[in-house]
Amino acid sequence: MFSKIPVVYAVGTDYQIFFAVRRSAYAWIKIGDRVFDDTVCGNMRSMPGMRHITVPQAVLDAAGGYTLCLQRIRERKSYWTQTLGTQETRYRFFPVPASGAARCYMVGDAHGDADRTLAAAKAYGDFDFLIVNGDMNESVNTSRFELAHNVAAELCRGERPVVYARGNHENRGAATELLPQYIPLRNGRTYYTFRLGGLWGIVLDCGEDKEDDHPEYGGYARFHAYRQEETAYLRRVLRQKAHEFDAPGVTRRIVVVHTQFPRRQDPEFDTERSLYQTWCDLLEKMRVDVMLTAHMHSYQVLRPGDPDLRLQISCPLVIGTANNRNQIGGTGCTFGPDGVTIQFTTSDGTVFPPETLWPPLRTKI
Ligand SMILES: [Fe+2]
Repeated sequence: MFSKIPVVYAVGTDYQIFFAVRRSAYAWIKIGDRVFDDTVCGNMRSMPGMRHITVPQAVLDAAGGYTLCLQRIRERKSYWTQTLGTQETRYRFFPVPASGAARCYMVGDAHGDADRTLAAAKAYGDFDFLIVNGDMNESVNTSRFELAHNVAAELCRGERPVVYARGNHENRGAATELLPQYIPLRNGRTYYTFRLGGLWGIVLDCGEDKEDDHPEYGGYARFHAYRQEETAYLRRVLRQKAHEFDAPGVTRRIVVVHTQFPRRQDPEFDTERSLYQTWCDLLEKMRVDVMLTAHMHSYQVLRPGDPDLRLQISCPLVIGTANNRNQIGGTGCTFGPDGVTIQFTTSDGTVFPPETLWPPLRTKI
């Protein structure tokens, strides 16, 4: 069952607030004297399921809280729909600080194991925002989408923002085409930029990890074309830099992507070298400070020039999730004046020593 607690995803300069509605109801969010309705083409939604309402970051950040309102529907009819009472639930909201240090935790590669994923995150302690970096579950049916939502709801309580990146395993299963109803998108796509306080980020999506015609996929994969779209998007972001990574107040820049595409790969996975090198070159022009990835089920930090790289990168690459030997691990990150510090933690409560990444911040705070 989906948690009743909303999840506040950061997309662009908005938040997309996702919440599960169990029985027929209208929904809206109140922030101060502003009301944001859950509508489709001017018509209030009322069907049970996952819903989301988009609100401007500036409005919610300034207000420090929001109220989720659900008005039950006795029966939705063509004439004289009967409504019932309205339930209002108030949530505090803590925006990522615009200056100074910001802490986040990155989960990923849960592959269905919520309990150990939560344990690894809780070993890190408090954080300002969460990154959910893919492979939380396969898309066999829509109940498989509960895990990512519920992990984010449990860790952030609707009070702190979340960044979501799709993994390759979310592409697997009969319900994969329904996933977009349950995750944040921008212009219908799983790649987008976001802003959190002084942090600017870009989420990328490699799709699957082998060639589209690999027999394992049985014909569903069209990810080469999707990656080409992303290349064009990266070029657009570069052209719009004054509103993106060079916008006023941006002090740190990160990439969030499930697949560690610049790393050396076994032959079966060694695809798209030219296209992915283009991504690296465009990200270098965006002066990103760190690339946060998952997918390998093991922990590794690669700096530019590392022999384990197959592509040239300009910033450290963190492979920051683990799933092996009955342990799940994730990575805490601090984006501060002295650079980016990371700290790997595992579900048995182990907290590894912090590691400060080179290079330090490219922009003085
Ligand atoms: Fe993966």
